[in-house]
Amino acid sequence: MNKNGTLWYDTDGNPIQAHGGMILPHGDTYYWYGENKNGPTSLAPSGDIRVDFIGISCYSSKNCIDWKNEGIVLPASSAPGSDLYRDMVCERPKVIYNQKTGKFVMWMHIDTPDYRSARAGVATADAPTGPFTYLYSDIPNRSDCRDMTLFQDLDQRVYLIHSSDWNKTLRISQLTDDYLHFTGVCTKIFPEQEREAPAVFYHQGLYYMITSGCTGWDANSALYGISSNLLTGWKLIDNPCEGKNYRKTFYGQSTFVFEKDGHFYLMLDHWKPENLKASGYSILPVTADGMDLRIPFTEYPFQQTK
Ligand code: GLA
Repeated sequence: MNKNGTLWYDTDGNPIQAHGGMILPHGDTYYWYGENKNGPTSLAPSGDIRVDFIGISCYSSKNCIDWKNEGIVLPASSAPGSDLYRDMVCERPKVIYNQKTGKFVMWMHIDTPDYRSARAGVATADAPTGPFTYLYSDIPNRSDCRDMTLFQDLDQRVYLIHSSDWNKTLRISQLTDDYLHFTGVCTKIFPEQEREAPAVFYHQGLYYMITSGCTGWDANSALYGISSNLLTGWKLIDNPCEGKNYRKTFYGQSTFVFEKDGHFYLMLDHWKPENLKASGYSILPVTADGMDLRIPFTEYPFQQTK
C-alpha cells in the first residue's frame, strides 16, 4: 500500500512517475497527470538540477488507490529547438476538460534548462489518456510563467495561475472559451511575496490558494491565501500545515487540490534533488472553514474506501 511521503507504485508494481502533477476527476475515473522523471538526475550548465524531459505521464484509477499506468500521453520531441526537446524543461502539467469543444486541454510550464525563458505551453487531446498534440507556447499577457496551475471558476471560465515577474508575484490570466489562448484579462496577486506551486479551490463563498516559497527543490513553509473574488482581494493568511515538520510542509511542496466525494485533498511532491525520479508523493485531506484552513499530515486517506 502506498504511504504518504514516499515514492508510490502503480498496479504493475512500478514507481509512479507523475511529479508536479494533478488529479482530474472525469466520469467515474480519476486521471493523474505529471512529469515523468524516470531518467538520470544531472546538472544543467546553469547549475540547475534536472532530468532531461521524457514526457507527461497519465495514470488512471476508480478509487484513487490503485493507479494503472496509461503511459506517456505527451512525449518529448526528437526535434532540437522544439519546446518538448529533451534538453528543455516541461513542468507542472494541468489538464481540464472543455465541454464545448470536447477536448482535454493541458497547460504546462515550458522553459530552457536555465529557467530563463519561462513560458506557458498548451496541448490538446480527444481522450483523457491522450495522445496529446502540442500546439504552442506563449508568455501570458507579456508576463513570464514558471510554476502554474489551472482553475475553473463557478461560471466555467478557466484561468492560468502562474508565478511571474521572476517569481516575485503570482498572476491570474483568463483563458478564452476554448481554453487555448489568453483573453487579455489578467491580475497580479501577492505582489513581491515570492510564492510558487499554487493549488487553488473554492468552498462556500471563498477561494483558497495554497502556495510554497521559492527555494527550488528544497522544502519550505506553505502559506495559504483567501479571497471572495478570484481575480482580486487576495490576502495571505497562514501556514495551513499542522504537526511534525509543519514548517517544511512535511518536506513536501504543493502541486494541486482536487475534490473527491465532497472533500478536498492536497497533492504534495516530496522532491529528492539527488535523484529526482525517486521523489515521493502525499495526498492529504484539507479542512476549510471560513478563514481557517488546516492540513494535518495523515496516512493516505482512501485506504478505507472500496
Ligand atoms: C521549484 C518548482 C519546481 C521546479 C523546481 C526547479 O521547486 O516548484 O516545479 O521548477 O523549483 O528548481
